[in-house]
Amino acid sequence: MTPIKKIGLFTSGSDSPGMNAAIRAVVRSAIYYNIEVAGIRHGFEGMINGEIIPMGTKSVSNIIQRGGTMLKTGRSEQFKSPQGRKLAYEQLKKNNIQALVALGGNGTIIGVKEFNEEYPDIAVIAVPCTIDNDLRGSDFTIGYDTAINTVIEAVDKIRETAESHDRLFIVEVMGADSGMIALRTGMGVGAEAIMVPETKSDLNALFERLERGRKDKTSKIVMVAEGDEPGGAFEIGRVIMERYPNYDTRVSVLGHIQRGGKPTCMDRVLASRLGVAAVEALMAGHTGEMVGLIHDDIAFTPLGQSVKYHQDVNAEFIRIVEMLSL
Ligand code: F6P
Repeated sequence: MTPIKKIGLFTSGSDSPGMNAAIRAVVRSAIYYNIEVAGIRHGFEGMINGEIIPMGTKSVSNIIQRGGTMLKTGRSEQFKSPQGRKLAYEQLKKNNIQALVALGGNGTIIGVKEFNEEYPDIAVIAVPCTIDNDLRGSDFTIGYDTAINTVIEAVDKIRETAESHDRLFIVEVMGADSGMIALRTGMGVGAEAIMVPETKSDLNALFERLERGRKDKTSKIVMVAEGDEPGGAFEIGRVIMERYPNYDTRVSVLGHIQRGGKPTCMDRVLASRLGVAAVEALMAGHTGEMVGLIHDDIAFTPLGQSVKYHQDVNAEFIRIVEMLSL
């Protein structure tokens, strides 16, 4: 095995808070081991276009606390084609890059998996960065903790106005087709009901829950994951308004505020640990894997097994929400 002298580092797909902390960890640990790091800007698209910059210790100063990604990100249609991936490969070769660390979510992992199968001479380790927490091989993804804390802060505020006006709020959170954000934050804000794509959303069950609730309870929160089958918060709101015209109902879609903000300590620490582990894994000859944390230990999962899946919803969560939101 030839020792790795130069790593290419990039962020791709949706940004997530903690990506910068992961960039810092990769750059600083690589330098610690005398490995050069080339930053690739704008994800796969920048790889194809040769947007490659040298990175040093100082270039990652003062970023651990910042949301977003200093390397910029994006999605690339070109990289989905073999021709696009060939162009990217040629750029990497031209820049003497022997290995890649890819920071991103589901789409990024699918992209690097295909690339690694076609060009196995470039080693690849992916680091899970997405607010959605929907990757197999890590109990938590980088950005999830910050996003759920942003949601909690926003919904606590909504609860105050809901309580003052005796209103029912349908709150929609992100997560693509995963309900992990809705599930955990729903419990965290004391929601009266949670609707996630992993379980069949039964509107009759929702009506029953709303009717069963205490009559003297003045505010109600229904937490809906954006990927839920009945059509998201506006559709659920419409149905509720039709059925209960005397409920004062409002819909609130939290949107992209969930992707920004200072990463929490949990996300900074996760990013630091996984960033260092990615570099050490490449040095040890790993490739074609995602590094994650399982039961607080570093773990590696083949790229093909780490892409999005529908987790079984933790039944304990649903049971607790139902028990506590009476
Ligand atoms: O994957 C992260 C995520 O924020 C999802 O939760 C959401 O569905 C999607 O990205 C939104 O993407 P965009 O910023 O392109 O609208």
